Amino acid sequence: MSITTKAHINGIDLAWSDTGQAEPIIFLHAFPMNRTMWEPQVAGLTHRYRVITIDLRGHGESDAPLWRYTLGHFVEDIIGILDHLAIAQATFVGLSMGGYILFALYRMDPARVRSLVLADTRATADTSETRATRFSMAQVAYRRGASAIADLMLPTLLSPHSLAHRTDVRDRVRAIITGNQVSGIAGDLMAMEERPDSTPLLSRINVPTLVIVGEDDRASPPAEMERMAGHIPASTFVRIPHAGHLSNMENPEAFNAAICSFCGRHEERSEHEPPVQEG
Ligand code: MLT
Repeated sequence: MSITTKAHINGIDLAWSDTGQAEPIIFLHAFPMNRTMWEPQVAGLTHRYRVITIDLRGHGESDAPLWRYTLGHFVEDIIGILDHLAIAQATFVGLSMGGYILFALYRMDPARVRSLVLADTRATADTSETRATRFSMAQVAYRRGASAIADLMLPTLLSPHSLAHRTDVRDRVRAIITGNQVSGIAGDLMAMEERPDSTPLLSRINVPTLVIVGEDDRASPPAEMERMAGHIPASTFVRIPHAGHLSNMENPEAFNAAICSFCGRHEERSEHEPPVQEG
C-alpha cells in the first residue's frame, strides 16, 4: 500500500501517493473515482517507475470545496503538486476525466509533459444532451447521495463481463464512488460540462502519446478513440481485451504491459534525443 502525502496548495489540502524511483509517471483518475483506482498500477509499475497518484480536488483524501470547479483548477493543483515535489517534467496518464484534464494541462503548460497516456477518454466537448444529463446527475447526487451515483455509473464504467463476473472490481468501484462527497461530484460535473473541444489540439500534440481503450468501453468507444489517436502525430493505439471503461482496473496486466512497452520505447529514444517541447 502506498503512503498518503498532503500539502496545502491553492487554498485547499491536496493528497497524493508517491512510490518507487526513476522516471515519474503521474496518474489522474476518472470521474467519480479517486487515486485508489490506480492500485493495480502502483503494484505493477513501482518496481520500474516513480508512480505518483493524485486525489484530484473533490476526491479521496483531498478537500472537496463547495465551490465552482474547472479543468483549469485541476491543472493548477497538479502543477502545484509537481512544484512541491520539484518535478519539472513527467509522463502523465489520464483516464476519462483524467484525460480531459491532460488536454487542459497540455494547453496550459506543455513543457511539463514528457509523454502522454490517454486512456478511455475523448477529445470532443459535451453535446447539449450530455450537458443536460450532467445537470440531472448533480440533482441525483444532491437528493440521493453518492450511492445513487454509483447505481447510475456502474453500468457505464464496467464491461458487462466485469459487472457479471468480477465482483471484486465491481464492489471496489462502488465503494470508491460511494465515498465521494456531493460537492466533489457536482464540481466535476460542472468542470466537465464546460470543457472545450480538444479535437483541434490533437494534431499539435508533439510528445509521444499512447492511446489506450478497453475493447468493451461504452463511454469512450474504441472506434472513436482510434480516430482520436489517428490525429495525434506520434501516437500508438492499444485495445485492452476483456475490459470496459475502467480498463486499468478490469485488465491491469494488459494495461500495465502497454504502459511499460510505451515508456520503454521512448526511454530508449530519449537516450539519443532531447525531450520534445512545444515552442
Ligand atoms: C469518467 O470516467 O471520468 C467519466 O465517464 C467522464 C465523463 O463523464 O465524461
